[in-house]
Amino acid sequence: MSALEFHGKRALVTGGTKGMGEAVVRLLAQRGATVIATARQLPASPLAGVCYLQADVATPEGAGTVVKTVERDFGVLDLLVNNVGGSSVPGGGALALTDADWEAAIQTNLMAAVRLDRAFLPRMVAQGSGAIVHITSIQRRLPLYESTVAYAAAKAALANYSKALANEFGPRGIRINAVAPGFIETTAASALIEQMALHRNVGDDEARGALMESLGGIPLGRPGSPEDVAEVVAFLLSSRAGFVQGAEYVVDGGTLPTV
Ligand SMILES: NC(=O)c1ccc[n+]([C@@H]2O[C@H](COP(=O)([O-])OP(=O)(O)OC[C@H]3O[C@@H](n4cnc5c(N)ncnc54)[C@H](OP(=O)(O)O)[C@@H]3O)[C@@H](O)[C@H]2O)c1
Repeated sequence: MSALEFHGKRALVTGGTKGMGEAVVRLLAQRGATVIATARQLPASPLAGVCYLQADVATPEGAGTVVKTVERDFGVLDLLVNNVGGSSVPGGGALALTDADWEAAIQTNLMAAVRLDRAFLPRMVAQGSGAIVHITSIQRRLPLYESTVAYAAAKAALANYSKALANEFGPRGIRINAVAPGFIETTAASALIEQMALHRNVGDDEARGALMESLGGIPLGRPGSPEDVAEVVAFLLSSRAGFVQGAEYVVDGGTLPTV
């Protein structure tokens, strides 16, 4: 592998200021790509050489701003990582979810990617190349029903859509794949662990163990790091994965059980 395997490539990473998105941005930039990262808030410590765009990509207006700015300032994209996603609904299970909760989950976890793909694909097709990665979740197959029913269902839709897109655009030179992370200890996850520890009056290690247990355990014995996921995303974007299409790579330390 060349140290600068993405030299000359223009990459857009949504949600590129924290967690896995930030790790992907850092890795692509280190390997030579020109990287544009989006987030609703600009980062306090921006990475040198990375261009940041402030926009809420879960809205049509925010996605429109990203598309206009990228096309005006960078022209065609070579690499697109649809990383934005998440859930902010309260616990209480399926019956506690309102239409607005469902709508928010679908806009953030599905439509943000759909709109950006729809905008950037025609130019990728015109240049005859491009690679897209969608960040799904193991929850699309292993939903945690207490608080993330809508999130898990939206991620399942994203995975299905990613496969359909791969079938449609593979013949036109575009590679499209997905990455399904398991429990990854991002800053948000660390905060959750601290909160659980406080709530249960236990140490962070015990709270982390309880979270791992709630997933049925992690055979590798630890949560993943953002860098674990970034490596796989970079591989899928690279020419090293030239014959990988319509796949969903699971990065979960073995969490998903065999059925
Ligand atoms: N962490 C896990 O264990 C885990 C497991 C499975 C799947 N995932 C998936 O992996 C992806 C990344 O998760 P993460 O844990 O790395 O997230 P994170 O640490 O919470 O970071 C999220 C990033 O996305 C940005 N963002 C969030 N909503 C946005 C919006 N509407 N428009 C633009 N930017 C937005 C955030 O910046 P702002 O807040 O400034 O907008 C931030 O840069 C998500 O799709 C998530 O569902 C995570």
